[in-house]
Amino acid sequence: MPASELEQIVRDHVHETPNFPSEGVLFRDFTPLFADGPAFKRAVDLMCEQIDAEGGVDVVAGIEARGFLLCSAIGYRLGAGVLPIRKAGKLPSPTVTETYSLEYGEATIEIRDGFLRPGDRVLIVDDVLATGGTMVAAASLLRRFGAEIIDSWVLFELLDLHGAKALADNEIPYKSAWA
Ligand code: PRP
Repeated sequence: MPASELEQIVRDHVHETPNFPSEGVLFRDFTPLFADGPAFKRAVDLMCEQIDAEGGVDVVAGIEARGFLLCSAIGYRLGAGVLPIRKAGKLPSPTVTETYSLEYGEATIEIRDGFLRPGDRVLIVDDVLATGGTMVAAASLLRRFGAEIIDSWVLFELLDLHGAKALADNEIPYKSAWA
């Protein structure tokens, strides 16, 4: 199947570094996409066109760190608010946290309390989906406020790690530009 226009843009604007940040990992950096004005605008426009926003989007939640770049642009395009989902320890209280398991150990993400309302329609965005652990934790955190996850978007999905199944198991709608 030929790549969609969005997939082609994303594939054409990635920088891959073998063995970073650790041996055996191929790090995909989307700085070339963010730094190319026309390509970034077109990618954001194409992503927004595919979001089922019929009922509106109240908030675009971006996962630290590169999700912040996407959520700001997509939120602006949709006329929605943006909410950073941060790694623990970066925000003053009051915050609400969610801890989740990693292959070795655990991680915690958090958001400021008081900025989501029950029934808010939320889109979650990030650059990469790997195991899906971060996205599942983000959805769980947002749902604790009564938010409805209407969709989630990543630029790239590492198919070998089966993140999409983790999202399906948790009833999180999901799209990736490139897998
Ligand atoms: C990467 C990526 C996602 C997460 C995906 O972030 O940007 O947020 O990992 O992994 P998962 O699907 O297995 O949970 P990273 O932890 O490298 O943090 P950073 O964006 O702050 O560099």
